[in-house]
Amino acid sequence: MNRLSTIAGAALVTLALAGCANKPAATTGAKGTPRNPWVIGMSQCNLGEPWRVQMNADVKAAAAQHPEVQVIYKDAQNQSTTQQAQVREFMDQGVDLIIISPKEAKPLTEPVRDAYQAGIPVIVLDRKVEGDDYTCFIGADNVKIGREAGRFLVKALNGRGAIVELQGLMTSTPGQERHKGFVEGIKGSNLKIIFSADCKWLEPDAQREMNSALARFPQANAIQAVYAHNDPSAHGAYITAKLEGKGRGKTIKFIGIDALPHEGVRYVREGILTATFEYPTGGKEGIETALKILQGERAPKNITLGTRIFTRDNVAQGGEPIG
Ligand code: FRU
Repeated sequence: MNRLSTIAGAALVTLALAGCANKPAATTGAKGTPRNPWVIGMSQCNLGEPWRVQMNADVKAAAAQHPEVQVIYKDAQNQSTTQQAQVREFMDQGVDLIIISPKEAKPLTEPVRDAYQAGIPVIVLDRKVEGDDYTCFIGADNVKIGREAGRFLVKALNGRGAIVELQGLMTSTPGQERHKGFVEGIKGSNLKIIFSADCKWLEPDAQREMNSALARFPQANAIQAVYAHNDPSAHGAYITAKLEGKGRGKTIKFIGIDALPHEGVRYVREGILTATFEYPTGGKEGIETALKILQGERAPKNITLGTRIFTRDNVAQGGEPIG
């Protein structure tokens, strides 16, 4: 082949890839090669929060190291019905593997089961589905994170205090597990949850619920801490207490979860949050595990990722791992 036709050929491949972003590239030859990559369908429940943007970036960075895979991305825009349809579309397209970070457990259980039973490997990231009809779940231990958050506040408040809990979406497993763990962590202490609300992981909802909490408990020392299930909610609560709470942003301790460098960790550094717990995205591990499965290796059913705590004392050293 002369040089010109090689370039023309490369341009055609590029055009073919660009022209069918939603379809697996139609090429021939052995599967799992740069010319004929495995196709992974990735369904992200939403891209409205920095943590999810980071997860997709982590998937992209890991996949970029492997020209033998191609990833097709879909964003369900926080709609479980859209996400159900996306799994079905991936099945119809005949992708080689599906990675999904489901919005809610129940509605995504059936499509994941159908794909799995149809022989398409499914890797579930961060939020779980019900039952065990999937190939591999990858995520951090949310019960443990919640428990550590509880223990941290018991210490920070000398065993006594009134807590506002701003929960994540309670139809998603991290919300349920972060609550369960926290209740375990404060057990036996005199910490009491005096107000709790489902903020669906959203900062504006956390602002609204914090407003209600401040109105319901108007005395200056009525609330000692806010346990928010993610950093956007912790930040929303802080802003509300600062602006609407007559300076209560200073007297209340705020703790969150996620610990993105430019979000939660920065809030700790700036004195907005007392602590945040790292919640790794699992994007890199998702691609590494996908490759193993595609190459015919067995993947563990569950891969549990580690976590770290960031406080004012340890933030400069990059936080501390939680054993
Ligand atoms: C982003 C997010 C994170 C949280 C995770 C739980 O959508 O809300 O802030 O830690 O999802 O699944």
